[in-house]
Amino acid sequence: MKVIVTKSDLQSVAADLLVLPFSSVELKKEAGKALAAIGFDVKVLKDFKAEAGELVVLYGGKVEYSSVRIALLGIGEGKTIDDWRKAAVSFASKAVDLKTEKVAVDCSGLAVLAAATGQAVATLVAAFVEGCFSGSYRFDRLKSGKLDKKKNSGEKSRELAELFLRVDSSVFDEAEKGAAYGKIIGSCQKMAKDMVNLPGNHLHAGDIAKAAVDSGKKYGYDVTVFHKKEIETLGMGGLLAVNKGSHHPPTFTVLDYKPKGKARAVIALVGKGVTFDSGGISLKPSENMAEMKSDMSGAASVLGTVEAAARLGLPVHVIGLIPATDNMPGSTAQQPGDVITTYSGITVEVGNTDAEGRLILADALSYAKEKYNPEVIVDIATLTGACIVSLGYAVAGLFSNSDKLADNIFQAGQQSGEKVWRMPLWDLYDEQIKSDVADVNNTGGRGAGSVTAAKFLEKFIDGHKNWAHIDIAGPSFASKSSGKVNGGTGFGVSLLVEWLKNYS
Ligand code: BES
Ligand code: MN
Ligand code: ZN
Repeated sequence: MKVIVTKSDLQSVAADLLVLPFSSVELKKEAGKALAAIGFDVKVLKDFKAEAGELVVLYGGKVEYSSVRIALLGIGEGKTIDDWRKAAVSFASKAVDLKTEKVAVDCSGLAVLAAATGQAVATLVAAFVEGCFSGSYRFDRLKSGKLDKKKNSGEKSRELAELFLRVDSSVFDEAEKGAAYGKIIGSCQKMAKDMVNLPGNHLHAGDIAKAAVDSGKKYGYDVTVFHKKEIETLGMGGLLAVNKGSHHPPTFTVLDYKPKGKARAVIALVGKGVTFDSGGISLKPSENMAEMKSDMSGAASVLGTVEAAARLGLPVHVIGLIPATDNMPGSTAQQPGDVITTYSGITVEVGNTDAEGRLILADALSYAKEKYNPEVIVDIATLTGACIVSLGYAVAGLFSNSDKLADNIFQAGQQSGEKVWRMPLWDLYDEQIKSDVADVNNTGGRGAGSVTAAKFLEKFIDGHKNWAHIDIAGPSFASKSSGKVNGGTGFGVSLLVEWLKNYS
């Protein structure tokens, strides 16, 4: 999607769809006038409340406009960036359904909106562009179109090719800056979504590594891939144990982005890359098991975030670490009760082979600490169903041993719209993951499942004082019943980049 910021009259753009955003406050005063100017009767506003994301498409109007569709887009009260983003998602989704290619949005009210929301114009434009990427996203690369009845009906949904944003000249430069930023976030999220949506037979551990290598080449950062032999030499017993039942070798990928000037901080991001989680010998029930193709969402957001950091030239040294494998049952698979030795030397009793994420993250966390001694370690993972029970599908769980880090990530969530909520890490939960035969057990029983998972991970950071764990089991994937565009969400990219900006 091309994003073009323009000062010129929208009529000259010749778009297939012209979008006029209105807040519910403006609706009463301004909308009638604006509509009259383009030849519509105020009556068309009868049922339009301008709620965030509400959309009315009009046909007709003055001759000059009769070839375009006019969309009235609600932005709610016009007070929050979340409403503004929601509006963008809504209209962009509709634009794809209508098969429009060239869309123009009248953003003349940006300065007013900026004042009302307390946000910079660049921030609002970035959020809008990000929303447009999100709303227009479709995953159809695995559709052949062969069974479509109507020939040439555009079997694959067409992409939104061009997005014009008409702004007042006073905010033009800021708007351009915001658009460039939004475009980077939007396309990195798209890459993450594509990876999440690829099913287990189309995305193996090696493919995650390859995606990282390709991105590194394109955007100028180093990527090292450790293959099975090297993983064995390193002694990553967690990753190897989970991989035991698989036909596909594991990979451990390290992405290393260094800024041109002096780095303000060294930050390690660890992402869970389970390409398909069957549960292993502790097999999951078959209902919804297909959704477990999304169990590499943490890896996808780490890749998306490192790429975004490189493309934005953020002044931080970011190291992304991605342990990847699928989790399969079979005669060679690890068994419940097995005791394994992780990279750190800490032994683990595998109480449940379906608690595999923490086994591969354990190795990556210890490796990150030992090898890079970063100022901050953040891991992001679809770690527990229990986190969904606690916080639902919209919000991620946040666990941290640093109040300041937790607060910064929380604020980044509020700003980016990818919300996180902090959960406890009290030592009293350690009781649940004690093992009789090993140093620790990988399962902690029924209660507080997301907390005991986090307590488990904490054992592998070797006393690091500035660590956070983000459990994205809920928000990483929108199921069919959610009413949203079904599939991977790219959750984490926007959140982590927003947080990394603190270091600029
Ligand atoms: N990948 C799952 C967690 C998950 C569940 C993510 C639902 C997204 C949606 C993870 O590997 C898992 O299976 N966790 C177990 C842990 C249990 C065996 C201690 C769980 O949550 O049930
Ligand atoms: Mn599992
Ligand atoms: Zn899993």
